[in-house]
This record gives sequence, structure tokens and C-alpha cells, in this order.
Amino acid sequence: MSGDWFSLTIDLPEGDAEALEAQLHDRGVAGLEVRDREAPPMPGVRGPAPGEAIVVAYFEDRAAAEEAQAELAGSFPAARFSLEPVAQQDWSQSWKSLIRAVELGRLWVGPPWLADWAPADKERIVIEPKMAFGTGDHPTTSLCLEAVDEYLRAHPGASVLDVGTGTGVLAIAARRLGAGRCVGVDNDPVSVELAKENAVANHTPEIELSGKTPAEIEGTFDLVLANILANTLVELAPQIAPKVKHKLVLAGVLVHQKNQVEGAYIAHGLVPDGTKTMGEWIRIDLRRP
Ligand SMILES: C[S@@+](CC[C@H](N)C(=O)[O-])C[C@H]1O[C@@H](n2cnc3c(N)ncnc32)[C@H](O)[C@@H]1O
Repeated sequence: MSGDWFSLTIDLPEGDAEALEAQLHDRGVAGLEVRDREAPPMPGVRGPAPGEAIVVAYFEDRAAAEEAQAELAGSFPAARFSLEPVAQQDWSQSWKSLIRAVELGRLWVGPPWLADWAPADKERIVIEPKMAFGTGDHPTTSLCLEAVDEYLRAHPGASVLDVGTGTGVLAIAARRLGAGRCVGVDNDPVSVELAKENAVANHTPEIELSGKTPAEIEGTFDLVLANILANTLVELAPQIAPKVKHKLVLAGVLVHQKNQVEGAYIAHGLVPDGTKTMGEWIRIDLRRP
């Protein structure tokens, strides 16, 4: 591909961002970046105003970007738009430089262009960054990967359910570290498709990946993982808690949201089993008493 790309930057109320992202997915944008409370901006990058999110969509030509802007302006009257050319090469280099590989316990997780640097004694999980969340280096993913490594070290062969699987990274890590039955679900069809691609590419095609709700999944699981947003975790508590045979790991939660999220699961019969923080993010562990 040659020539300039175009970025459409959209500032809008946080509550509208998910619907806007879905509309952009449907239009087949070439790339999407979201800056909100879940994914704060990198240092030096403009962040959203309080109560708002910033969505940046990348297009291969100006006409496609203008068409998208016209359509979105109709659906999201409160949104503010700014359309700019982006030198394609700069863009691809800058987003690549933001993705790091991580080493956590027995795992190495990183993008294909760093895979040759993975130490030979690590389980190497390669995730091509596309339109799903979960390249390994976000603090919420890292916190969960640590929990997966620790749990499977102590409980080889454990069954694992990953709710909000994104790229499938947690389910893939679990299976590669010796999990038994492994299931991943996501309500975003694009993520499910990418998780399936990643599972095949990482030699774990047996992971059951789908758009089912937790309640639609058969059985219970030794370890249940859910790295989603706090309010979604609270909403899903009645569905997720009954799936837990032994241990539940929740992430995607900011430190100040801990009591609200933990309380929702205590109300469904689980007991606290520790926490771990990374910056402003907290992982909440619970277990069945
Ligand atoms: C923060 S990402 C986590 C991805 C990956 N598990 C990780 O740890 O990096 C959250 C994922 O949850 C999904 N999600 C959001 N709401 C959901 C819901 N109600 N049910 C299932 N998945 C949901 C999103 O589509 C997204 O892929």
C-alpha cells in the first residue's frame, strides 16, 4: 500500500463509544484506537475530556473517511470529528513501537516481529495485533497471564473459562501451560474470529471459542478468567459466578472500583482470595468456599 492514510479522530461521550466502535467495525476500518478509562492514552498523546472517550479510526483513502464521518455524525450527534492525513509509514511504525513483548512466569507473549527474541525456555505465544484487545502488554492482560501461570503450575490439567477472550490470549496461554478443557467467549464477533485464528496459529485449535454468553456454556470450570470492564463484570456476576468450580480471576477494574465488583461476586457465593495491582489497575481473585 502506498500514499497517505487518513485518521478520523472522534471525541464523544464515553457511553456512546462502544456503539460507535461497532459501527466502525461494520464499515471495515483499517485500524482503530480507543482512548478511555480502560485504555488510557500513551504519555504525550491527547486524552479524552472527563466522561468522554476518543476513538481514532484509520482509513486508506479520504473518501472512505469522509463517508464514515457523514454517517457517524448522523448516528452520534454529540460527537466531534477531526479528519487528518497520516503518513502511512509513520503510522505503522508508531503503532508497532507501542507494542511490547512480555515475559511472565513461563510465558512469552508478543507480536510476530519480536518472536525471534523470545527466550527458548519460554512458552512462546505470538499475537498479531489486529482489531481485538489482548496483545499481552496491557496491565490488565499481564495481571491475568500471571494468574494463569500460577494456577496451572499448581493445578495442571485444570479446566479454564475465559470470558471476554479478545485475541484469545489468556485461553491460549492456559492451554499451552497444560490446561484441560479450555473455553473462550466474547460478545464481539470480530474478536471471536481473530481468537480462532490466533488459537490455530499458536497450536491450540482445540480451544472452544464462540460468542456464547457464560450462561450458555455447559459445565463449571476450575479457573474462570474475566478481563472486562467493571460495570460489565458486575452485570455478568449472576452468569459468571455459577461457572466457577474453584477460582475466579477478575480484571479490567480500576483500584477505586474494587469493592463494587468484588461485592457483586460475594453476593453470588464466592469469597475473596487476594488482589494484585499494577498502576491504576487491580486484579481481584475470588474462590468458591
Ligand atoms: C479488556 S478485553 C480482554 C481481552 C483478553 N481477555 C485480555 O485479557 O487481554 C475485554 C473483552 O471483553 C469483551 N466483552 C465486553 N463485554 C462483554 C460481554 N458482555 N460478554 C462477553 N465479552 C465481552 C470485549 O469484546 C473484549 O474483547
